[in-house]
This record gives sequence, structure tokens and C-alpha cells, in this order.
Amino acid sequence: MIREQWYAILSAKEVRPGKPVGVTRMSQKLVLWRKEDGSVACIADRCCHRGASLAAGKIIYDHVMCPFHGFEYRADGKVMYIPANGRKAVVPDRYQVTGYEVREQYGLIWLWYGDARTELPEIPFFDDLKDGFAYGEFHENWNVHYSRAIENQLDVVHLPFVHGTTIGRGNKTLVNGPVVKWDDTRMTFYVKNVSDEGQTPEKPAEIKDYEKLFHLQLQMPNIWQNVVAPKVRIMAVFAPVDEENTMIYMRFYHGFMTAPVATQLMNGLGNIADRIILHQDRRVVLTQLPKKSELNCGDILIQGDLPIMEYRKMRQQLKDKAGRL
Ligand code: FES
Ligand SMILES: [Fe+2]
Repeated sequence: MIREQWYAILSAKEVRPGKPVGVTRMSQKLVLWRKEDGSVACIADRCCHRGASLAAGKIIYDHVMCPFHGFEYRADGKVMYIPANGRKAVVPDRYQVTGYEVREQYGLIWLWYGDARTELPEIPFFDDLKDGFAYGEFHENWNVHYSRAIENQLDVVHLPFVHGTTIGRGNKTLVNGPVVKWDDTRMTFYVKNVSDEGQTPEKPAEIKDYEKLFHLQLQMPNIWQNVVAPKVRIMAVFAPVDEENTMIYMRFYHGFMTAPVATQLMNGLGNIADRIILHQDRRVVLTQLPKKSELNCGDILIQGDLPIMEYRKMRQQLKDKAGRL
């Protein structure tokens, strides 16, 4: 995981009012709940008293209450009330667990993975998806580090092999480029796969008018979109669970339906198609070793892997930068 970043970790609808929810993200057990004003709180899910999970507890106004002996926690992780000590007792500061900065935006819960700061950077999202789209969504766990799951979505070389029956039809095994462009921490990569007629693949710099090509985007540290058409997108969140697991949230965004029934139908159809494609990927990605990718993880890359190479470099750069703060 890269420090000093906003990570999308959950779909907002998973945190319902009135009930705490326990998840593992960033290799930590977390409990999230909604306060009275609807805003989301997140603290470590391990009671400082005797280690019970708070996720099985109750929400009391803005606090979450441990189901074991009733300790009540505030959103910053501090214990505010110990029933056995009486209402009047002042709770010493040592009774606390780690609290996390979380925000709800774009239908997602975002966690600040870094040191507390008075001013946090803006949450990174695709500007063009901020409004004007409806979406359907599903999620599933993959037994790989999130870096491998992301790289699979940057992989233009696998299409005819893994998706020969769906998006990789046509046996376009020869990979020109691809062209990779960065805008701060957002990568856009342009795909020009063709059939092999004995030609040499074009180098990225040789590709003219690349802007007109089919393209996809990765926003560091963990969201991705496939620009299928101006009004159709597939967006994915790769939420790090731990070193060997990733929760993938897939959304099918579309902007051309107005009637609610048609919208629902599109959501459903889009989800089915996305799921079939994702499962074609899963079969192979789950076998990759090591489960986590890094700059020097032993893979020997080829020209067509440029987006993967660039992702690895950017990850390292952001890690180094966070280490210097
Ligand atoms: S273990 Fe939570 S209150 Fe005792
Ligand atoms: Fe794929």
C-alpha cells in the first residue's frame, strides 16, 4: 500500500444507517458506521478493553458500543463511556483505538491512508464520471494483492488469449505501442492491437493520432476506467484487503438512458457482461506469482507491457515520496 493517499475502500451503500459494519482493508480490521448526521466513521475494530470486535456492537447516537462490556467509542477512536465505572467517571485518554479519516464521495467510501493533516488533498476521481451517469455495481474478492489485480486491467497483451470469446475476438495478437500518457497521477493508455501480418510492432512514439485510439485510464492509487464510449464506461475499484486479497468493485456506467426501467435493465446487462469478462481474467490472475507485483519482482516484461511498467514506476515514486514526508 502507498501511504499519503486516498483509497476507495467500500461502496457507500455497504455502510447502512443503524448498523456497524466490519471489514478488513489495508491489512487492518476496521469498523465503520454512520453517525446521526449520516456521515461515516471508521476506527480499528478491536476493543481496547479486551479485544472484542466492535462490528457486532450497536450504534448509540454518534458512537459505536462494544457488545462485550459496553464501552462507547467516538469517531476518532476515543472511548467516551465505560458503563462499569459509572456515568460520572472521566475516561482516561489511554482508552482508545486508531481512528481513520474517511469520506463518502461518488458513492464510495474513501480512507485517508497516511498521517493526519489539517488539510487533506482532494479525493481523486474521474472528472467525467462525476455526474450525468447511472451505474450498476457488483463486488467480489480476489485472492491476489491489489497491484496484480490493477495490472490485469492495464494489460493489453492478454486480450486475444484470455478474452478470445469476448472483448479479445479477432486474434489481434500484435501489440503496437501502447501509448502511455500521465496527467499527474492519472494514466491514460491507448490501445492499437492488430493481426500479425509479419510486421514489426510500432514503437509508442511512432503511433500517429493516438488520441483517436481506444483508451483506458488508471487513477492512482486504486481506481480504473475503460472508456468504452463517451457515454459508456466500466469503472473498477481495487480495494486492498491485505497482502493477498483484493475486493474488486465493478461499475457499469452509462449516460444515455432516462427511463428508470431502461436504466435498471442496462445496469443488469452491463453487470452480467462485466462479470463474464472479469471471470475470464480471474482464472489466470489468481495463478500469478508472486501475488504482489513490484518494480523488481522477477517478471520479464515486453514492449506491450508499457502501461504495467509505468504503473510499477509510479507506485515506487509515490512510495518514495511518502517516505520522505
Ligand atoms: S471487550 Fe469491549 S468493552 Fe470489554
Ligand atoms: Fe482482462
